[in-house]
Amino acid sequence: MDGNGRWAQMRGKPRAFGHEAGVEALRNTVRGAGELGIKWLTVYAFSSENWSRPRSEVRDLMTLLKIFIRRDLKEIHREGVRVHVIGERESLSADIRSLLEEAEKLTVNNVNMNVVIAFNYGSRDEITRAAIRMAAGISAGNLDPKAVGPEDFEQYLDTAGIPDPDLIIRTGGEQRLSNFLLWQAAYSEFVFFPFFWPDFNKSSLVEAIHTFSERERRFGGLDAKVKAS
Ligand code: FPP
Repeated sequence: MDGNGRWAQMRGKPRAFGHEAGVEALRNTVRGAGELGIKWLTVYAFSSENWSRPRSEVRDLMTLLKIFIRRDLKEIHREGVRVHVIGERESLSADIRSLLEEAEKLTVNNVNMNVVIAFNYGSRDEITRAAIRMAAGISAGNLDPKAVGPEDFEQYLDTAGIPDPDLIIRTGGEQRLSNFLLWQAAYSEFVFFPFFWPDFNKSSLVEAIHTFSERERRFGGLDAKVKAS
């Protein structure tokens, strides 16, 4: 969800104004994705590197998360959406942690759609935490290191039980992953939009899905035509 700050600056407004508009775009995107029958939607709301922003901006983003959960959780729950949160929780303030837990607990039995909020998330941090936990399992004798494969390692990631993304969309013109789902994106397709996140809407999502549907995914294999020849 990149480009909130630039979107605001272009309008001569403070960056917080862009983040607020970003939340509105997020709200519309969750609704639009539900209408399109998308079962899993993951959003990168706050990265583990975002702490290096000015304190006031970090505070604004924390406040927006609180507002989003307090204001939208009821609707999310009513629509049968299950909320999952990935990212490091320990260094978040107690009120944010308990709101995230509340959202997960309230929606745990919902099955219409899944929204994964990546908050205080960084892929390298996630992989490091997973490796530490797996190593602890090995030291405790619960796991045989010779028998460990990628499917075992995945169980220690924050995304255990969450399918890998088919499609990753980034707005704002940059064409990079910025520490997002590095492991999980091994075979994802990417769609980059030049416009800023607050301008993203359901028709952008439809456009991205259309582009995705025209891609040929080989997962390291051969395409059907080559195979048959
Ligand atoms: C990137 O834009 C966006 C973020 C760092 C935060 C994304 C957050 C939201 C859409 C709102 C918050 C939502 C929740 C649920 C907390 P940028 O600030 O990097 O923009 P720039 O690249 O133009 O500076």
